[in-house]
Amino acid sequence: MKVPAFIFLFLQLFPPSALPLVHRGEFPESFLFGTSTSAYQIEGAYLEGNKGLSNWDVYSHLPGKIADGGTGDVADDHYHRYKEDVELMHSLGVNSYRFSISWSRILPRGRYGDVNPAGIQFYNHLIDALLRRGIQPFVTLHHFDTPQELEDRYGSWLSPLIQQDFTYFAEVCFKAFGDRVKYWTTFNEPNIRVKFGYLFGNHPPGRCSKPYGNCTIGDSATEPYIAAHNIILSHAAAAVIYKNKYQAKQEGYIGIVMSLDWLEPLTNVSADVLAAQRALSFEIAWFLDPIMFGNYPLEMRRTLGERLPEFSPEGRRKLESKLDFIGINHYSTKYVKDCLFSPCKEGTANGDAMAYRTGERDGVPIGPQTGMPGFFVVPEGIRRAVMYIKQRYNNTPMFITENGYAQKSNNSVSTEDLLHDTSRIEYLQSYLTILAAVMRDGADVRGYFVWSLMDNLEWVFGYTLRYGLYHVDFDTLKRTPRMSAGWYRRFLKDSNVDS
Ligand code: NOJ
Repeated sequence: MKVPAFIFLFLQLFPPSALPLVHRGEFPESFLFGTSTSAYQIEGAYLEGNKGLSNWDVYSHLPGKIADGGTGDVADDHYHRYKEDVELMHSLGVNSYRFSISWSRILPRGRYGDVNPAGIQFYNHLIDALLRRGIQPFVTLHHFDTPQELEDRYGSWLSPLIQQDFTYFAEVCFKAFGDRVKYWTTFNEPNIRVKFGYLFGNHPPGRCSKPYGNCTIGDSATEPYIAAHNIILSHAAAAVIYKNKYQAKQEGYIGIVMSLDWLEPLTNVSADVLAAQRALSFEIAWFLDPIMFGNYPLEMRRTLGERLPEFSPEGRRKLESKLDFIGINHYSTKYVKDCLFSPCKEGTANGDAMAYRTGERDGVPIGPQTGMPGFFVVPEGIRRAVMYIKQRYNNTPMFITENGYAQKSNNSVSTEDLLHDTSRIEYLQSYLTILAAVMRDGADVRGYFVWSLMDNLEWVFGYTLRYGLYHVDFDTLKRTPRMSAGWYRRFLKDSNVDS
């Protein structure tokens, strides 16, 4: 029980509010500090500017899929208010902004139709507005939304055809925006994308086998692995194109973003220790090992046998392009209990890793609960997540592409309370403190982005969870800075002064 006990001890000794205050000056001057968003969650204008429908446009309109019946039809109306939003970022003093490009705005019908000039124009305007304010665009090509046409034609990520569609889209973007965009990521959280889409069935295309329920019947034994395989090869093919045709001229970098919440063994019994390692392999190494080393982790190959697709010689050649950096989205930490050598409750094995995740041990939560169910405040987790990538992937440059704190929002929570987000400030401060420490220990981390600039559509939670430094009134769409916005501004301004 050595490691979890240490976390408890750490939190007892240094509850987030008692941590020594972190300063901007502890990070290199070239460090990117920004905020993060994604197209479907903020843009709205879902039928404007000749945009095509995306998988999320269709899914969010299905009854019962989104908690409060929310959709991204309007969201933050960022499509019309992007100038105001760039000014919000400027007033925070960030030097970078991570956002995603809506594929169906650029290619309403994938490769089966034309490039949409209105889509290109929107992102040109956004990028230019950012650069005028000295804010580096940090662009994600795929943040969960795929043109619905590709779903309807051939089942999107279940078909290898998607690789050609994705690389076509990527190249359109490199060509159109690469003179000004220096940071590209191919995929946001592909591990979440395929598990939610094809294992649990709670994101589009909503496929799963029993016992997860509320989904279209698919084959969870193979589909997540097929979709992942197509994502990995799509990443590789896009990276080859970028590196061969654009990188030298455009002087940019290309990477991928993983969802990496830390997983700590529930006990120090070796079965649990192995289960935690296995769970990380089935979550992170699943994607990063092929990209960095050319194949899936051995334990996945052994466990899954023929259920895991193989890389052809051509695929392996593409994988040699690797990547320039790894993006880490980190929010929380959980315990992991073995389900391979010991019994677990039915349906809790979290897929083939046979590793049950839980937020508590002996009834004691691993850390304070945030507004997001199952997300806890465990600042130490970011150290371990970063060290895992550092050690396994030879200290490849890293960016913390998301980190943030959710507030629950319903009629009984007043706007006043939502604006006084001291818990979010404590959260961000404590995670940044540990991040500075892990960098002092040699981790090559080059940037940090708060999720999120402003409240937005939190996928299946709709508008019931709020992550923003800016509060958004979803009736008037007015943005109001929270206390945390003021804190981030002061933090970014002062190198040595307590924020
Ligand atoms: C990760 C996802 O990339 C983002 O879209 C989501 O809103 C945040 N986590 C918060 O859950």
